[in-house]
Amino acid sequence: MTEPAAHPRTERVDFRATSDPALHESADRGEASLLDYRQLYALWERQQWSVQDLDFSQDRRDWHERFDADERAARMYGLSSFFIGEQRVAVELGPIMRAVPDEDMRVFLCTQIADEARHVMFFDRFYSEVGILEADGLEDRLEQTSKHLNPEFNTFFDEQLHARVDRLAVEPEDTETLVEAITIYHMVAEGMLALTGQHFIIDYNERVGTLPGFVEGFTNVARDEHRHVAFGARFLRDMARRDPRYGDAIQRALAEVLPAADGVLRPKWVPAGEEGTAFYGVSVSDSRAFALQALQRRLKVIGLAAAA
Ligand SMILES: [Fe+2]
Ligand SMILES: [Fe+2]
Repeated sequence: MTEPAAHPRTERVDFRATSDPALHESADRGEASLLDYRQLYALWERQQWSVQDLDFSQDRRDWHERFDADERAARMYGLSSFFIGEQRVAVELGPIMRAVPDEDMRVFLCTQIADEARHVMFFDRFYSEVGILEADGLEDRLEQTSKHLNPEFNTFFDEQLHARVDRLAVEPEDTETLVEAITIYHMVAEGMLALTGQHFIIDYNERVGTLPGFVEGFTNVARDEHRHVAFGARFLRDMARRDPRYGDAIQRALAEVLPAADGVLRPKWVPAGEEGTAFYGVSVSDSRAFALQALQRRLKVIGLAAAA
């Protein structure tokens, strides 16, 4: 078996086609050609995939015959964060979609709601076909897997993101709150947390040759997330150019949520402030550095100074 290249996915034509600044080194110099909302919609039409086409039979053998109890427990942290995270972002997107100020933006966010539903179903099918938990249906699986999360996960999703979305549900014309919500959702939840976890989890499974059905589906999820983040970068750049107070709203939201986001990247078993292994043999500081570099590239392209 040949060694895979260092980061093969990020060089794939279909990944780079999303225009996510994190995939382009030129973003370090603030240069990027972001797709507009209609181009992002057209790309969504070309990048469809089906959960029902994936084959999890080898994954089932890997999970029960190749992994011991410790490995299964360690993998549950990453899997649970994603499964619950997908469910959270799917439900929070409705009020954001309704609040955006133009129709082309709204049409793209409608496609994103469909994507997030597909991501939930991807995890649901993976869990049930592989036999990850003894559970009866989607709600029960979500409930049982949520025991593996750490408290920062709830602070970030259920307090910080949720507060903005609740506000937008009653005041959809509050554009500053909308800018904060999209900063938290697209730049942090998807751009920093999801894409960092995906990067290291997929790399690890490819390197050791495990969970091939999961890797295939999760790679499709990652491509969707780059497209979502590209929407977020485009939206925030457009808004920051429209009025400097929106640039301030982006910085304010980042300052508030980055400590909790940092905690989400640190699994339960690694004490705060201590170095330890986060995702599959990658240190907490390496995964943090990866997430921050991606954020900084996107902020440069939006036209803002890098966050600390
Ligand atoms: Fe997703
Ligand atoms: Fe997403």
